[in-house]
Amino acid sequence: MEEIVLSKSADKFIKRLSKLSEKKQMSLIDSHPWDEEYSDKSWLKRRENLSIYGTKFYDLATEDERIRLAKNETGGWWAAFITFENLVTEYYMKLINHQSLAKFPNVTEYMLHFCKEEIVHSMVFRKAMEHFQIEPAEVSEFIKNFYEDNASMEEFPLKAIYLTIIIEWFAENNAMIDLKNDFVSPLAAAVAVEHNKEETRHIAWGKRMVSEFCNQVPGFMDEAREFTPGFLRGLIDTIFGNVDIIERVNFAHPAFQNYDDFFETILFSDNKKRIDEEIMTPIFEFFIEIEIYHPDYRSYWEESRFCYIIDNILKKNEKK
Ligand SMILES: [Fe+2]
Ligand SMILES: [Fe+2]
Repeated sequence: MEEIVLSKSADKFIKRLSKLSEKKQMSLIDSHPWDEEYSDKSWLKRRENLSIYGTKFYDLATEDERIRLAKNETGGWWAAFITFENLVTEYYMKLINHQSLAKFPNVTEYMLHFCKEEIVHSMVFRKAMEHFQIEPAEVSEFIKNFYEDNASMEEFPLKAIYLTIIIEWFAENNAMIDLKNDFVSPLAAAVAVEHNKEETRHIAWGKRMVSEFCNQVPGFMDEAREFTPGFLRGLIDTIFGNVDIIERVNFAHPAFQNYDDFFETILFSDNKKRIDEEIMTPIFEFFIEIEIYHPDYRSYWEESRFCYIIDNILKKNEKK
């Protein structure tokens, strides 16, 4: 394998990210309005982004059930964040301790900031779950076994870094569109906004790592072109397809007992398509730019039902 190099401009960029992390960090006490009073009437996400919105199930649910669903869907993400952020910290620390990226000292330094920030984040999510009295829902195996399945210590760790940034970026876009509403609890909104401030740097770092190395690591591009669409489909349907979350809401109407009909309806609704497009557009723009999306691999995007989003971006790009 040819020697893998990092450009000077990328090195400088990553060093700057470390400086920004040194300057300001999330506090477990001061960054959020923890004095908000608990109420079981608090909305933790925007109504229009409920899985059932725009379907017959929305009309069959009571207002209290919708509020409980919002709470459990948001809590489902928080629980997934806690699991994932603990795992990514463990994995990145392992890379640091194994000297996997020692050739790039500024990268290693930034990864230390990254890990420190993730530990604080997972503590904040835990605190928020306690505040809103949310019992953590079952986190999917896909998240729990993430680094066991996707990371080997022998290779240059680009695949795991790539998958990590996709998860972080996707989850952040999701969290930010969920809170776009006045009646969302200010504490729940602050949990998302404060997290996003630090995640924006994690994502910038990950994007830079991927665009620097994607054409240097042999085989990476072909593999990524194949698995990315299916991986993203699994990810974006994780919470809306979680039976445990639905059971926690305890819907009274018997129609909610027919899981086949229920999940088929919400996972294929027009509203879900709208939400998916809102979340995925910035990510797909990046994939088109660095050619992770490639017309030769279009069938994978079709199979994962993402082509309408890709085509809307391509159309927009043509007009530029
Ligand atoms: Fe985080
Ligand atoms: Fe992160």
